[in-house]
Amino acid sequence: SSAWKLDDHPKLPKGKTIALIVLDGWGESAPDQYNCIHNAPTPAMDSLKHGAPDTWTLIKAHGTAVGLPTEDDMGNSEVGHNALGAGRIFAQGAKLCDKALASGKIFDGEGFKYVSESFEKSTLHLVGLLSDGGVHSRIDQLQLLIKGSAERGAKRIRVHILTDGRDVLDGSSVGFVETLEADLATLRENGVDAQIASGGGRMYVTLDRYENDWEVVKRGWDAQVLGEAPHKFKNAVEAVKTLRKEPGANDQYLPPFVIVDDSGKAVGPIVDGDAVVTFNFRADRMVMHAKALEYEDFDKFDRVRFPKIRYAGMLQYDGELKLPSRYLVSPPEIDRTSGEYLAHNGVRTFACSETVKFGHVTFFWNGNRSGYFNEKLEEYVEIPSDSGISFNVQPKMKALEIGEKARDAILSGKFDQVRVNIPNGDMVGHTGDIEATVVACEAADLAVKMIFDAIEQVKGIYVVTADHGNAEDMVKRDKSGKPALDKEGKLQILTSHTLKPVPIAIGGPGLSQGVRFRKDLETPGLANVAATVMNLHGFVAPDDYEPTLIEVVE
Ligand code: 3PG
Ligand code: CO
Repeated sequence: SSAWKLDDHPKLPKGKTIALIVLDGWGESAPDQYNCIHNAPTPAMDSLKHGAPDTWTLIKAHGTAVGLPTEDDMGNSEVGHNALGAGRIFAQGAKLCDKALASGKIFDGEGFKYVSESFEKSTLHLVGLLSDGGVHSRIDQLQLLIKGSAERGAKRIRVHILTDGRDVLDGSSVGFVETLEADLATLRENGVDAQIASGGGRMYVTLDRYENDWEVVKRGWDAQVLGEAPHKFKNAVEAVKTLRKEPGANDQYLPPFVIVDDSGKAVGPIVDGDAVVTFNFRADRMVMHAKALEYEDFDKFDRVRFPKIRYAGMLQYDGELKLPSRYLVSPPEIDRTSGEYLAHNGVRTFACSETVKFGHVTFFWNGNRSGYFNEKLEEYVEIPSDSGISFNVQPKMKALEIGEKARDAILSGKFDQVRVNIPNGDMVGHTGDIEATVVACEAADLAVKMIFDAIEQVKGIYVVTADHGNAEDMVKRDKSGKPALDKEGKLQILTSHTLKPVPIAIGGPGLSQGVRFRKDLETPGLANVAATVMNLHGFVAPDDYEPTLIEVVE
C-alpha cells in the first residue's frame, strides 16, 4: 500500500546487491594484550580502517543510543539488533520495567492482578536470571517485585534463581544470592514464608535460546516444577559456593540444585494453583521456558507433571505467538522496521546465522517478530550450532559455513540484501577464554573476507558493523583504564559485553562515487544504520527514522 512506499533516493541507484554483515561482540578499543580482535590476524577488517573517516567510522552501541536506561548500560544483541533493524530508538524492556516498578503501575496492571489471585491460598514463584547485568533482568527489579508482592498479599514466595557470570563477572553469583537471602530473611521476620527454592547456571539450566538444546530447559523444569535435581542443599549460598567447585562448573554452568527442608523434601516445587512470574525482561532466552509453562500441547521433553498455574512473564516475550499470554509490562512496540519497509518495496532479502544467533538477524532485527514479512521475497537460513559445548572448545563455530551461505546467496543473483550475523567474537568472548577468543576473531574475519570476495564478483556493496563490544576487551578495568585487580591482586577476566563503540564500514565496487560518511551527526549510533542501508538500496528512509550516516558529494 502507499503508506509503505519509500521515495526514490535522488542520487543513489537501485538494484545493487548489498551484503550486510553484523559481527557479534566486536567493539573498537585500544590495542593491548586483552584486545582479542587486535591480537588476532584480521586482515579483512583491518583493511577497512584505511577508509577512515569517509568509509570507516565508529558508532555508539550502548546506553541511551539503544534505548537502555543509562550510559552505564553496556550494549547487547537484543537492543543492538532492534536498533539496527528498526532505525529508531525505542525505550527497551529494562527501562519500561524500571518505570512501571518506580510508579507502582506494574501492580495495577492486568498481569499482576491475574497472578495475585493465587496469593491467598498458594505460592508465588519467581524465576529468572539473578544479577545486576541489566541484559536479561536486574536484581533490583526482582527485589521490588518481591517487596510489592508481599505488600499485596503474597504469603508464600519461592525464588528459582539462575546464576549469571556472563553479563557480570564470574563468581559474582555468591554476592547476589547473599543479597537475595538477606531480603528473604527480612520477609520471614515479617511473617512471609519466603525462600530460594532452586537454582542452576544460566547456560546449563533454563535459559537456552532458539531451540538450541531443550535439555537445558528440561533441567530447569525438573528443579523448578518437579523439585528434582542431582544436588540438594538446605541453603542456597552454600549450594552456589559448593557447586562452583565441581569440575567444569562456574556461574554460567552451575549444575542444577534444589533447596530441601530438614526431612529432605524440596521446599518449592511448582504445583497446581500456584502463581509463576518469570522476571527476565529480555525475550530470547525465555521463549522456550514460556512454551513449557504455557502450552497444553508440548512434546519437547516429558514434563511429567503440567501444573495448572497462573503464569505471567515480566514482558510478553513473543508478540506474534502472544507468548506468554499474560505479562506484567507491555513490551516496546517496535513497528515499521526496515525489513518490513524493504519487503513492501520489492527488496529481496536473505538472512543467515547459526542457531545461537539466528533469531538475532531475524526476530530481533524485525522488531521481535517471528517469520517472514513476504515469503516470496525473503529467505532465512539457520545453520545448526554445535550444542552441549562451551564455545571456547570450537571457537571457529560455524563462521565459514555462514560465509559460504552468504557467498552463495550473493552469487545466486536472487537477493538484493544478504544479511548475516557472525557470532564468534561474542559467543567465545563470553567464555572468558582469551586464546580461544583470538581464534574466534580470526575465523570471523575469514568469513568477512569470503563475503567481500563475493561482493567484488557481483559488483555489489558491503556494510560491515557490529551489535556491541565484547572480544575487544577481556579484562575488568578501573576508571583510568588499567586492569582492576581483585582483593587477592588477581586480574578479573571480563566475560561480558562492553561499553565500547563499534566500527561501521561501507565499500565494494557497487558503492557510488562520492558516497561517504557524514561528519555532522553528533552521536551516531546503531539506529542510524537502517536509513543508511535503505539509501544504499536506492530509497529515502521514512522521516521518523534516525538520520542516515552517509552523504553523496559531487
Ligand atoms: C546472552 O544472552 O548470551 C548474553 O546475556 C548476552 O549476549 P547477546 O546480547 O550477545 O546475545
Ligand atoms: Co553476547
